[in-house]
Amino acid sequence: MSKRAISIKKPEIVLDQNAQVPLYRQLYERLRAEILAGQLEAGARLPSTRVLASTLGVSRNTTALAYEQLLLEGYIESRVGDGTRVARLQPGQQVQASRSAQGQHATDVAGTRTAVISRRSQLLVDTPDPGEIYPNQAGAGMSMFRTGLPDATYFPYEIWARLVARRARQSLQAVSLYQNAQGYAPLREAIAAHIGITRGVHCSPEQIILTAGSQGALDLVARVLLDPGDLAWIEDPGYPGARGALLAAGAKLIPVPIDKEGIDVEAGRQLSQGARLAIVTPSHQFPTAVTMSLGRRLALLEWARETRSWIVEDDYDSEYRFSGRPLEALQGLDSTGRVIYIGTFSKVLFPSLRLGYLVAPPELLKGFLAARRFIDVHLPLLEQMALADFLAEGHFARHLRKMRQLYSERRNTLIDALMRELGDMLDVAVPEAGMHLVVWLPPGMSAQAIVKRAIERGLHISSISQFSLRPLPRDGLILGFASASTEELQAGVRTLALALRCGA
Ligand SMILES: Cc1ncc(COP(=O)(O)O)c(C=O)c1O
Repeated sequence: MSKRAISIKKPEIVLDQNAQVPLYRQLYERLRAEILAGQLEAGARLPSTRVLASTLGVSRNTTALAYEQLLLEGYIESRVGDGTRVARLQPGQQVQASRSAQGQHATDVAGTRTAVISRRSQLLVDTPDPGEIYPNQAGAGMSMFRTGLPDATYFPYEIWARLVARRARQSLQAVSLYQNAQGYAPLREAIAAHIGITRGVHCSPEQIILTAGSQGALDLVARVLLDPGDLAWIEDPGYPGARGALLAAGAKLIPVPIDKEGIDVEAGRQLSQGARLAIVTPSHQFPTAVTMSLGRRLALLEWARETRSWIVEDDYDSEYRFSGRPLEALQGLDSTGRVIYIGTFSKVLFPSLRLGYLVAPPELLKGFLAARRFIDVHLPLLEQMALADFLAEGHFARHLRKMRQLYSERRNTLIDALMRELGDMLDVAVPEAGMHLVVWLPPGMSAQAIVKRAIERGLHISSISQFSLRPLPRDGLILGFASASTEELQAGVRTLALALRCGA
C-alpha cells in the first residue's frame, strides 16, 4: 500500500462550473465512481481537501463537502495523523452503489433506457431538501437557532379548532363537490385586502390563486413559464425550494451573486442572455437576510421590462419587519405587469397548513389555471374556509401583532448576546425583517467546522455556503431567532461562543 497520497490531476477531474449539479456533488460522484471502478484502490491515500481544492481550482468548501459525503457513506476513511484513505467496500455497499450509479445514466450502451427516474428527477434527488434544512426537531436543544420555523406554541389552536369545526358542520356539505380551481373566493378577497394594505401589492381577488404554500406557487410558475432548457436566474446563495421547482421544470439555472444590496442584476446580465425569469426574495433575502435596495429593485424591473422576462417575488416572511424603511413589495413598484407575487401562511401561522398564494399578472391567469387543473385540481376547501374566517374575525391581525412583538424581542436579545459574547470575532448583520440573522465569519475561519461543533453541542445552525452553488467571497452562520425564548437564545449564544472559541 503506497504511503504517498495519490495525485488527482486537473485534467483527470473536470468539474463543470456551469452545470446544474453543485461542484461538490460532481466531485463526490467522480471520486465515488473511481472507487467503485477500482481505479482508486482500498487503502490509497487521497490528497488533503486543501491540496485538492487548489489542484482543481475550487473552494476548500467544495472538496470538504465531497469528502464528508464519501466519509458518511463509508467510501473513504479518515484517521488523525494518517490522512484520508479509500475504504475497503463491503459487498452490499458495492451492489447498492452500483445501482445508484446506474440511476444516473439514462441509457446503456445499446441505447436502451435504464434509468428508473427521469434526469430531471435525479437532479431533485441531488438538491438539498428544504425539509432537511428545517428539521422538525422536538426539544429545546435542537430547536435552538433553527431557521424558517415560527414558534408554533403561540398559535391560538382553540380558536382555530372552533372555526374548522363550525365550517365542517355548517358549510362542508354545500361545497363537497369540485370547486373553483382558483380557491375559496372570500379568502382571496381577504388576502387581496391584506397584501394591498400591508405590502403595497396592487391586485384584485381575481388575480389570486391559492396554492399549497409558496412551494406550490413556485412549482406552478416554473411549469407554466418555462420550457425544458430555458434559462432562469436564481439567487446565489438562495432558497433550495426555488432551485428544486426550476429543476423540476427542466430549467437551466443561472446562479446570480448576492451582495449587500440583494441580487446583482448587472452580474446576471453578464452571466446570461435570454433568461426567462428570475426568482428573488427582495424583502429578506434567503439566506443572507439582506433587503434588496431600491436601486436594485428598479434595475431588476428594468431588466424584466427590456427582456420581457418574469420576476417571481417570493415574499415569504416580510410580515415581520422590525426596523428600517418599510419597502413595499416589488410587485407594487412594477408598472409593466412583469412580477408574479408569492405569499405564504407558513411563517405567520404554521407550515403544515400548506396554504400560500400567488398574484398573477392578468395575462398569465389563464395559463396558470389550466395547468392547475392537471396538477391538483384545487386545494382542500375546509382549511381555506376556516382561514377566511380567521382573517375576517380579526384573529389573524391579533396573532400577527403578538408574534411581531415577540420576534422583535427575540431578535434584539440575540443581537445583544452576540455582540456581547462574540462581537470581537464575528460581524453581526442586523436584519430589518424576517426570522433569522446572519453572522459573517472572518476570512480563514471554516463555517463547516463551526457548524459541526455547534451541532455536536445541540445547536441547530447552518452556514451560508450550504445554500450556494458557487464559491462565496465570505461565509457566515445563519441563526434563526423565532423558535426559542430569550433565555434560551442567550444560553445558545454562550454555547455557540464555546463552539467557536474552542476551535479558534
Ligand atoms: C425563501 C423561502 N420561501 C418560501 C418558504 C416557505 O415555503 P412554504 O410556503 O412552501 O412552506 C420558505 C420556508 O422556509 C423560505 O425560506
